[in-house]
Amino acid sequence: MPDVLDAPLTGYLDSLVPERHAELQAMEAYAATHDFPIVGPACAYVCYQIARMVGARRVFELGSGYGYSTASFARAVQENGGGEVHHVVWDKDLSQKARGHLAVLGLDDVVQYHVAEAVATLREAAGPFDLIFNDITKKDYPASLPVIDAKLRQGGVLIVDNMLWSRRVLDGADQSDDTKGVRELTRLLTQPPWVTSLIPIRDGLLVALKS
Ligand SMILES: C[S@@+](CC[C@H](N)C(=O)[O-])C[C@H]1O[C@@H](n2cnc3c(N)ncnc32)[C@H](O)[C@@H]1O
Repeated sequence: MPDVLDAPLTGYLDSLVPERHAELQAMEAYAATHDFPIVGPACAYVCYQIARMVGARRVFELGSGYGYSTASFARAVQENGGGEVHHVVWDKDLSQKARGHLAVLGLDDVVQYHVAEAVATLREAAGPFDLIFNDITKKDYPASLPVIDAKLRQGGVLIVDNMLWSRRVLDGADQSDDTKGVRELTRLLTQPPWVTSLIPIRDGLLVALKS
């Protein structure tokens, strides 16, 4: 897994997160054994916390997996009074798995599922959204921003995963399309109207307020 922190620190931060439902624990175990890149407990809890803090009722997730990060947003939206969380992934099997997990968690009443390319789906979606979460292929991060900007309300929050990219952002010799995508999105989001912090947990979770 791409943690930029060492294992003891990651374990410590994860230990501060309240105990999860058995289904979420099973999803974490699956990620560990199959090397599937879920956001993990600490980042998921930040996502939940921020969604609660901004009272999010309309959330759009770009590049969902089998529902782990989606569960954080869906729980927050339920607790905020209900609304919608869009789960979007181009893998049909992941979408099916997510339906199963989120049903067991009692969260699927707020989730809308799309098996499709995420940026195109957001472009067609009726905005505005209170919170958008981006976890698509990294080389496509910069091109997703104009669409996100058009659909996120002023005062809304954009959260982006993998923004330290296993420390590759620091390696000037790394000019791969994915690393350049992460660097370019960082450059774009560290100027107005964005108010941005990059939280160095797991693989770097960027939190940006659209001011
Ligand atoms: C990193 S995983 C998502 C993990 C999820 N955020 C979690 O923590 O539970 C990203 C998923 O999005 C898919 N994906 C990547 N780019 C996409 C795109 N542009 N449109 C739709 N799906 C995409 C990938 O195939 C992969 O299944």
